[in-house]
Amino acid sequence: MILAGLIVGLAFVLGLYFVFRPLRGEAMPFPKNPRPDELRAELLALREEAKSLQGPERTRVLKRMAWIERELGQVTDVEAPAPRRFPRWVLLASLVAFVGVSAVLIRYTLPRLPGSTVTESLALEQASKLKELLAKAEKSGSAEDWLAYADFAFESGDLNRAAEGYSKVIKLDPKNVKAYRRFGILLSVSGKTKEAIQILSAVVQRDSDPEGLLFLGNAYFKTGDYNRAIEAWREYLKRGGTARDQVLSLMQMAQERATAKDLGAVIYAQSCAACHGALGQGGSGPALAGNPILNAPEAVKEIVLNGRGTMPPILMNDKDFEALMAYLKKL
Ligand code: HEC
Repeated sequence: MILAGLIVGLAFVLGLYFVFRPLRGEAMPFPKNPRPDELRAELLALREEAKSLQGPERTRVLKRMAWIERELGQVTDVEAPAPRRFPRWVLLASLVAFVGVSAVLIRYTLPRLPGSTVTESLALEQASKLKELLAKAEKSGSAEDWLAYADFAFESGDLNRAAEGYSKVIKLDPKNVKAYRRFGILLSVSGKTKEAIQILSAVVQRDSDPEGLLFLGNAYFKTGDYNRAIEAWREYLKRGGTARDQVLSLMQMAQERATAKDLGAVIYAQSCAACHGALGQGGSGPALAGNPILNAPEAVKEIVLNGRGTMPPILMNDKDFEALMAYLKKL
């Protein structure tokens, strides 16, 4: 890639040089007649000679003198021919060719700019594909086409359109398990945890895809129902779910919380200690032990749920937050 850049750069500079060289002005004039001094000397000699000559001899010398005078006159009076320049059309043609070749080289050899351009063109492509699918679904009104539209929106992260599409499918085809599952997942990721549990716990009874179990486990975990979360995730792995490592560590967390003597201490150790220190003494985050902010639980809750600066938001149900708050005050 660097090499391609260098080659294009070199071609550019060379092209500029050749295109503009003729314009740099004084091309060399043709050399002047090399013999004027010799001619002048000959003329003087002939003049002396002529004085002593007679008849045809004198005529020949006079003719020769006249010729030399003419010749010297031309040399001195007539300008050297104008410097040779390329005709305009040659300049124009080389400029056009140069620009054309550069454009082709840049188009095909330079690497695309990373990031923005590619993702932008991808987003545009997705938007137009989505529009196409929507038009098709609206035209046919079939559950199958609406499902294709919703799936595409879901996979490209357009959750609102996905929800819209799946609810359309559910209306048209109330037995469509995938539409229910995806709708439940969308409820779960948008924070409607109770509704998500209702739909997903029904769906997983008759669904072969383990995806619903993963999100059902997440929803139970969020509500603090750790034993049910573990159960759902265990079933997810049994049915061949692929997010294995992630789910195993979530199961471990849930297990620790389910069997905790001091739930607040476990939550602190799992979610806060890495940044605020094992004893709340501070670390990359400020000290929490004895921090006056603990007298304002609402402020702490706001910071925990929404994050602040480099602190990420940490989802938590009310019961867990109360246990955590009680532990923080003991630090
Ligand atoms: C990834 C690191 C990280 C984690 C995990 C983390 N925090 Fe923080 N926390 C920070 C940082 C950094 C700040 C300072 C943010 C700022 O003010 O810009 C902070 C600020 C705070 C504050 C405000 C302190 C003050 O004096 O203003 C509170 C309260 C707090 N965190 C509580 C918690 C609790 C409770 C947890 C666990 C549920 C937690 N944090 C998890 C990094 C973290």
